[in-house]
Amino acid sequence: MSVVILDFGSQYTQLIARRIRELGAFSIILPSGASPETIRGHDAEALVLSGGPGSVYDPSGPQPNAAVLDQGLPVLGICYGMHLLVQHAGGHVARIGRREYGRAALTAREGSLFTGVGTCPQVWMSHSDAVDRLPDGWHVIAATAENPVAAVASPDGRRLGLQFHPEVVHTPEGSAILANFLRGADVRRDWSPEHNLERLIEEVRERTGGAHVLAAVSGGVDSSALALLLARADVPHTAVFVDHGLLRLDERAEVEDALRPLGVRLEVVDASEQFLAALVGIEDPEEKRKVIGHEFVAVFEEVARRLGDVRFLAQGTLYPDVIESAGSEHAAVIKSHHNVGGLPERLGFELLEPFRDLFKDEVRDVARLLGLPDSLRLRHPFPGPGLAIRVLGEATPERVRILRRADALFIDALREGGVYQDVWQALAVLTPARSVGVIGDVRHYGYVLALRAVTSVDGMTADWARLPDALLEGIASSITRRIPEIGRVVYDITSKPPGTIEWE
Ligand code: XMP
Repeated sequence: MSVVILDFGSQYTQLIARRIRELGAFSIILPSGASPETIRGHDAEALVLSGGPGSVYDPSGPQPNAAVLDQGLPVLGICYGMHLLVQHAGGHVARIGRREYGRAALTAREGSLFTGVGTCPQVWMSHSDAVDRLPDGWHVIAATAENPVAAVASPDGRRLGLQFHPEVVHTPEGSAILANFLRGADVRRDWSPEHNLERLIEEVRERTGGAHVLAAVSGGVDSSALALLLARADVPHTAVFVDHGLLRLDERAEVEDALRPLGVRLEVVDASEQFLAALVGIEDPEEKRKVIGHEFVAVFEEVARRLGDVRFLAQGTLYPDVIESAGSEHAAVIKSHHNVGGLPERLGFELLEPFRDLFKDEVRDVARLLGLPDSLRLRHPFPGPGLAIRVLGEATPERVRILRRADALFIDALREGGVYQDVWQALAVLTPARSVGVIGDVRHYGYVLALRAVTSVDGMTADWARLPDALLEGIASSITRRIPEIGRVVYDITSKPPGTIEWE
């Protein structure tokens, strides 16, 4: 059972899916032109047509498969989705000759979509076309000062359209409006973390049918949850954790202590010498990523050869990755993010990606139910290439060692200062710059270390974190005191954009 969301290219489509899941109904995003069979295959109980950057006047704009709208399913059209719905039913959409953008006060008719949301809720508008003639028998159920047709309903109330965006936070009653839609559409609302976990266990058992699964564990929440899922589902598996010599302090022991007691068959491969040797003389960030990716593949090939009977490779791919790689125009590749890419084809593995329908917070819930300790579950993200991309220039073993200590001091201080969970990610960067200082009466020439802490929702954009001065001061003094190679500590106050979170 699901709510199918047809994606017409809105930047908010994923938000619609999240809001609906938060309301306890499973939702899935499909391409705009999905066929009636595909939609039936997802057991759709209701349909949502997302907004989009297009106009119904643009002949190249995305269109739904017309038969989909005639299946008798309840439909909610949002913005461009409402225009498509209205046009399909015989109404008319006009260009308003400008863009209405921002907050507006809604005058809503009590009942149906607006039950319990008050008479004048604030909503978020972003459109340049508007409905100017309704299909026969349809009626207006809400308006704003600028927009006489802000929401519409078909005669039987099973097709509804909203000119505004209920999925964004600027529409505070948006979730209540979506909940009213789900209620009116009789959508089953039994989607919960527990239900999700049961579904996942069943799915991986069924899909693998007793065959051997290889999983790469990075220590991050996604891959750890994946290994725990395989263990809980009693799927024959080998989870491989590669110590590439670029890990954080004590990271390897932490991963082992968390996963082994919960039944994960964890194999730790110490490949640090191999990785560090491959990095000798390499300064370019993308080159480092390539070399590290290549070494990972080599390690996995070797493990797979040794095990002999591996049929599946499990990866912790998440829903946003799937949606982005499905060809969304705005998903530009800024950095070649590392994964164990290339492996499945080369080794003839089948891919197992049980989380490909899930958002990050849903995976965190799964991890909690599977017993992953909070220290790992709620840990800041850490890049696959590890500390190598935080040592600017050549990542020599000596520099990696210095950075590892500095990173540990920084992160421990954030934890002790009670602000670790207030920031989305925090990191230390060892620069190749050196600066002059004095210790006692002696001139000292040490590295410049940069600290970076950011707030963010998803890592796509970020703001620098306003950490307390006293905390920063304490961290700088403890780092320079305990790590003599570091002579100076600076704090990065660049947002993303224009900066990225990492320095390389
Ligand atoms: P940037 O630096 O692009 O980082 O703003 C956004 C998020 O992605 C992480 N990141 C990586 N993760 N392999 C990864 O697995 C990589 O090569 C990589 N580069 C950046 C980064 O830590 C941040 O969380």
